[in-house]
Amino acid sequence: MTKMKKVVVIGGTGLIGSKAVKLLRDAGHEAVVASSRNGINAYTGEGLADALAGADAVIDVSNMMSFDKTVITDFFGTSSSNLTIAEKAAGVRHHVVLSIVNADQLAANPYMAGKLAQEETVAASGQGYTIVRATQFHEFIETLAGAYAADGAVKVPDTDFQPIAADDVAAALVEAALGEPRNGTVDLAGPERGPFESFIRTYLDARGDARPVKADEAVDYFGAPVVAGSLVPGGDYIKGRITLTEWLKA
Ligand SMILES: NC(=O)c1ccc[n+]([C@@H]2O[C@H](COP(=O)([O-])OP(=O)(O)OC[C@H]3O[C@@H](n4cnc5c(N)ncnc54)[C@H](OP(=O)(O)O)[C@@H]3O)[C@@H](O)[C@H]2O)c1
Repeated sequence: MTKMKKVVVIGGTGLIGSKAVKLLRDAGHEAVVASSRNGINAYTGEGLADALAGADAVIDVSNMMSFDKTVITDFFGTSSSNLTIAEKAAGVRHHVVLSIVNADQLAANPYMAGKLAQEETVAASGQGYTIVRATQFHEFIETLAGAYAADGAVKVPDTDFQPIAADDVAAALVEAALGEPRNGTVDLAGPERGPFESFIRTYLDARGDARPVKADEAVDYFGAPVVAGSLVPGGDYIKGRITLTEWLKA
């Protein structure tokens, strides 16, 4: 019989976290929904010791949106330090954290610098861990289309893109958390790879938005220069199932 596990989901009310909680509970595991509004705060440490008591694993999908490098680096670094220290004290064996594919190469983008600080803190913590680096979510494409809008068109980086559905991300995180720590990094990407502009085109077409979409070599990824493979895994990776078209239909 499979042993039921207790998994604490930091950011359990968010997009990915709420899906991970549902998957865990549907499979008969105990999932603790941790968020600052629930009195469990990774950044301040509030409520962590009680939440982690008896837990087998933690999935950290907390988030803060900031493009201030000092603020975001402090948030992810301090939260990861608090979590891994509290996990070791509570005897939790596995810390799973969601990061972003090529965060290290894109660290000129302040948010990516924060994700890199998160990864480095976890890797240096002495806690058993798995870093899951995902590509951009299908759910994030609307934000990208808005951010890259310019002069009646959408101008995006001239690079490959391989977005993934949040459902696939949550499933991969749950699978990681129920397994052994890799003490390393695994990449995760959607089922289709192609030019960035083609995914934005598909998204806008589904929304009835006829604005032209162009690839532009001068466009960066929010401060980070991009080359051909900047936003996609460079080697082996876990492949999600849900294409953008399927996700749009659903
Ligand atoms: N967007 C993408 O395309 C993409 C791609 C790859 C990886 N990611 C990563 O995916 C992760 C999850 O993103 P998401 O979109 O699911 O986030 P989200 O929907 O914004 O949810 C964030 C969650 O974090 C919680 N939270 C914030 N501060 C906290 C704190 N101090 N302590 C505990 N919980 C806290 C929030 O709840 P409260 O407000 O109640 O605290 C909320 O539950 C992020 O780390 C992001 O870097 C994103």
